[in-house]
Amino acid sequence: MDNLNHDRLLIIDFGSQVTQLIARRLRELNVYCEIHPYQNVTDAFLTDFAPKAVIFSGGPASVIDDKSPRPPASVFDLGVPILGICYGQQVMMHMLGGTVERGHGTAEFGRAYVTPDVQRIDLLNGWFLEEREQVWMSHGDHVSAIAPGFAVYGTSPNAPFAITADLERRFYAVQFHPEVHHTPNGATLYENFIRDAGFTGDWTMGAYREEAIRKIRDEVGDKKVICGLSGGVDSSVAAVLLHEAIGDQLTCVFVDHGLLRLNEAEEVVTMFRDHYNMPLIHADEQDLFLGELDGQSDPETKRKIIGRLFIDVFQKYANEIDGAEFLAQGTLYPDVIESVSFSGGPSVTIKSHHNVGGLPEKMGMKLIEPLRELFKDEVRALGHELGLPASFIGRHPFPGPGLAIRCPGEITHEKLAILRKADAVYIDQIRKHGLYDEIWQAFVVILPVRTVGVMGDSRTYDFACALRAVTSVDGMTADYYPFTHDFLGETATRIINEVQGINRVTYDITSKPPGTIEWE
Ligand code: XMP
Repeated sequence: MDNLNHDRLLIIDFGSQVTQLIARRLRELNVYCEIHPYQNVTDAFLTDFAPKAVIFSGGPASVIDDKSPRPPASVFDLGVPILGICYGQQVMMHMLGGTVERGHGTAEFGRAYVTPDVQRIDLLNGWFLEEREQVWMSHGDHVSAIAPGFAVYGTSPNAPFAITADLERRFYAVQFHPEVHHTPNGATLYENFIRDAGFTGDWTMGAYREEAIRKIRDEVGDKKVICGLSGGVDSSVAAVLLHEAIGDQLTCVFVDHGLLRLNEAEEVVTMFRDHYNMPLIHADEQDLFLGELDGQSDPETKRKIIGRLFIDVFQKYANEIDGAEFLAQGTLYPDVIESVSFSGGPSVTIKSHHNVGGLPEKMGMKLIEPLRELFKDEVRALGHELGLPASFIGRHPFPGPGLAIRCPGEITHEKLAILRKADAVYIDQIRKHGLYDEIWQAFVVILPVRTVGVMGDSRTYDFACALRAVTSVDGMTADYYPFTHDFLGETATRIINEVQGINRVTYDITSKPPGTIEWE
């Protein structure tokens, strides 16, 4: 557990799909919180964590089943406010003497409306300004009798105990999900809850930066650190933070695998080496990567080759740095949350994601992850705090295997050159129309087919390409971006006019699922 000096809120995860959203809402209120699966929350854990408040998440289980998940009973003796959500409400009622029953026709999924009790409580300040509040329900079981000490403060047609509370013990329990977008006033409920718990909202990026720097200095001492810099937001912010903490004890390694976008290598090297004065090794290994990828067309084979070479190359350069004991990575909080799995068993590999996992063990180095408490948007806020240019912080994600997975079939120098130019025109169009920040990710895919066209009076036989643009919150699900036909037409014309080698442009309107964001 880290030693951040903040009031902490503990979220006990019972396996809801939206537990992370609870954390998001709280972080937005400048409250430091951590999500822990219920199995890990023991009496000793609670003492050690010393939460100032606790939230029980929702979850798919039924408290009526013997083996259903529970928090330790001692959580109710901590003397801190507790908020139970959906399954969290049911488990609270069940453990404190209320009754929960199976659905039998009272299951409720989706939008519902809650009306207030005559008595208003502080938890609901700012609620019920209209007659009723829209909330989002997703439950099969329901509470049929509340526990002693509780009273009802809001009801919905199918949830007579939609909002319940024991004001004396400051235990609150709601049947709906205040963290989701479809409970429009949900953030207010969280705000009231954390005010009641006495949080001061001290989780700010300025404070985080100071503390993170102090922690890095304590941990590293006078040793050296190496950091893989990809040019993406996470590794860039990690590198700048580390550099601020330990200066030249940090060396960054930027591996250029020849699969980067137009001018990307120069931009990264110029910014970090010249602007930030960071010791930076520019590992130009384009020939190695493109050589080994030559003739390969299977997506997984390509990914595996790139992943393997990346580790080899990184290791080669890292070995040149005398006395490096630490390896820094830009791991984020969503990567480290151990979520509750009810399905059990290994999940299917859709794609072999490229990362430097396993590298520290292989290299016998200690790992340092200065962003592991942060969500993506918090990393952006930290980057802003550290003075990274806004255009850099807001960049769309770019996958480790780079353009290799945007070039289905065999990768050639010719295709890569065409792809780079087309991608640059497309992104330029998106920026010019002011759409860049609305889109999670946008890129061009060069297709392994040539098509016939006519330009001027001549026949062309050139590559076709697909444009991809998606909206997403976390990359796990995505929807295609609804460009106007005018935008698409103008972009197609520009690409065909400005990029020699492409004579046909298509737009990919597949969502994820069933598609994935990248084509390979
Ligand atoms: P998919 O294609 O799986 O992508 O829907 C989801 C998100 O992950 C990015 N992506 C990767 N990022 N290494 C990365 O660092 C990878 O191997 C990789 N593959 C996909 C993708 O760009 C999207 O943002």
